Amino acid sequence: MPIITNIEDLRVLAQQRVPRMFYDYADSGSWTESTYRANSSDFAKMKFRQRVAVNMANRTLKTTMIGQDVHMPVAIAPTGLTGMQHADGEILAAKAAEKFGIPFTLSTMSICSIEDIAAHTSKPFWFQLYVMKDRAFIERLIERARVAGCSALVLTLDLQILGQRHKDLKNGLSAPPKLTLANIINMMSKPRWCMGMLGTKRRGFGNIVGHASDVSDMSSLSSWTSQQFDPLLSWKDVEWIKKCWGGKLIIKGIMDAEDAKLAVASGADALIVSNHGGRQLDGALSSIAALPSIVDAVGDQIEVHMDGGIRSGQDVIKALALGAKGTYIGRSFLYGLGAMGEEGVTKCLEIIERELDLTMAFCGVTDVKNVDKKILIPGTY
Ligand code: GLV
Repeated sequence: MPIITNIEDLRVLAQQRVPRMFYDYADSGSWTESTYRANSSDFAKMKFRQRVAVNMANRTLKTTMIGQDVHMPVAIAPTGLTGMQHADGEILAAKAAEKFGIPFTLSTMSICSIEDIAAHTSKPFWFQLYVMKDRAFIERLIERARVAGCSALVLTLDLQILGQRHKDLKNGLSAPPKLTLANIINMMSKPRWCMGMLGTKRRGFGNIVGHASDVSDMSSLSSWTSQQFDPLLSWKDVEWIKKCWGGKLIIKGIMDAEDAKLAVASGADALIVSNHGGRQLDGALSSIAALPSIVDAVGDQIEVHMDGGIRSGQDVIKALALGAKGTYIGRSFLYGLGAMGEEGVTKCLEIIERELDLTMAFCGVTDVKNVDKKILIPGTY
């Protein structure tokens, strides 16, 4: 067993252990993947101010996100098909997050259902909602999240249509995978994954199968989105969803100051600066590059969170320095999950926590709530 010291180690192991179709699904962006790459490479350009001889005792990473206590300002992002990276993946990741004391967000497009997560955890989790044409189905989903005790609804606004990801088309992505010769050969080289999958009944879209009607090909994300997702989505629908839900609402997918102002006007509790991990509009700014203008425009009126490109605690603290009150990790935890199941997700969180804590100390700060622009070298952000 290799010694795991960083997120890249988890990625390498996940690539070995997860069938190509699902590994590629996670590790890709749309079209040329320029935004996907910029999400990480723009973090790398930012530089810290090193401070010395500062009392570094009694450090804390504890803070709040939308008024909820978090062990560190990092939540698990909603990611589709997580239960295909590892059998029962969403349940395992939710358990790891709960033990660690950070929020877990379940995707609408998950393999394990809302009810599965509720049955295997004891603290409230967050539920991410996609808006589909079938409004009765949306009402039922919201009701299911309420019954499950979810403490926030994360409403994604940037995926009315799906950005093209070349690898998914070439691999014939579907859940469960179709038993073609190429898939069978690839899966034969992933015995752990296969054993896990044979041992679970959760292999389709758990929130959808048996709950939504009129979807002819339930296994294909692309045909499904084009049939079901609502291209007419508007801020009026956001208002309606807010009313239906009645609880904490987080708007995900904001990249523009004008949209950020509309998110404030919608009465949401937080917004997430996000380009969907570079999976939608290729050529958009990286999330970390978009963050400052959004914090400037609305940071005093709404809690601003961000996701996209976070592969380390250093990345987390850079986002906090530019004004984010919370961050989300998608691929980082998926690599942990694909590599080692629940233990891998815990490992991912431990790695990020340690990097965040030590980096904060090197910058001369002991309380994560006090991190601001002063830890960065001007001109590098
Ligand atoms: C769905 O959320 C995706 O990005 O594939």
